[in-house]
Amino acid sequence: LSPQRWLVGVLHLFYGIIARRPVVGGNWKCNPDSMSKLDGLIANINDCDTSQCDVYFCPSPLHVAYCSDKTTNGAKCTPQNCNFTGCGAYTGEMAVEQMKDLGLSQVLIGHSERRGEFGIFPMDDNNSLATKLKYIQDAGMSCVYCIGEPLSIREKGLEAVLAEMHVQLTPIYSLLDPSSVVIAYEPVWAIGTGVTATPEDAQATHKGIRDLIAKHASAETAEAIRIQYGGSANAANAPDLSAQPDIDGFLVGGASLKPEFKEIVAAISKAKA
Ligand code: 13P
Repeated sequence: LSPQRWLVGVLHLFYGIIARRPVVGGNWKCNPDSMSKLDGLIANINDCDTSQCDVYFCPSPLHVAYCSDKTTNGAKCTPQNCNFTGCGAYTGEMAVEQMKDLGLSQVLIGHSERRGEFGIFPMDDNNSLATKLKYIQDAGMSCVYCIGEPLSIREKGLEAVLAEMHVQLTPIYSLLDPSSVVIAYEPVWAIGTGVTATPEDAQATHKGIRDLIAKHASAETAEAIRIQYGGSANAANAPDLSAQPDIDGFLVGGASLKPEFKEIVAAISKAKA
């Protein structure tokens, strides 16, 4: 090991430990039902103390433009999907070029509700998502990239879960840049069910994902990349989950539509301070 390489390793180690800044997102999904409710939801976002935690929120596509310039605390308006072709004859799609024009710098992709769990057909798969991620990065935007296993795999145990995480991550290992990608680990069985992963189970899976990234990308990437937990996260369970060393934040659905969202941001800010 050359002295330079050793120094870089040590710096990365410390960078990872010290500088993995927490990140909390609110995914509003296909809510609210009326634009008249947007100001109230944006107020919840603006109530968050972002001094020690990055915050983003994902309005429904119809509401993105309205929300794009309404935050006062740096919280990032983050669309829930994008295409991998840009503007043109792509009916019903959203292009990162249009997002950049709105002043946006981040987009979320790969949510299980767009991987077929939504029930109509798989709109995204591991390969199309990798193509999207590359497109997003080439456009100079950052990305929240969702992964997670269904209940049938969780029931087989941690090893099966991590095997599935490896399948989902394989097309993107080479694209994992901690400065432009946040991973959101959302076990499908915990989404919208009120069943949260226990802090121990969530930690074991996050650690397993980090180990996969260390093996198949690099140790430095694994140490620096942020991994959010999603699935029935709320103000009550956020403190215990936040205490886990490999949980760097949350992707919140239902509770992001409520004033308690700011308490989730406060919980992880306190735990990682
Ligand atoms: P809930 O917090 O409602 O379970 O949703 C999680 C989620 O899917 C966020 O993207």
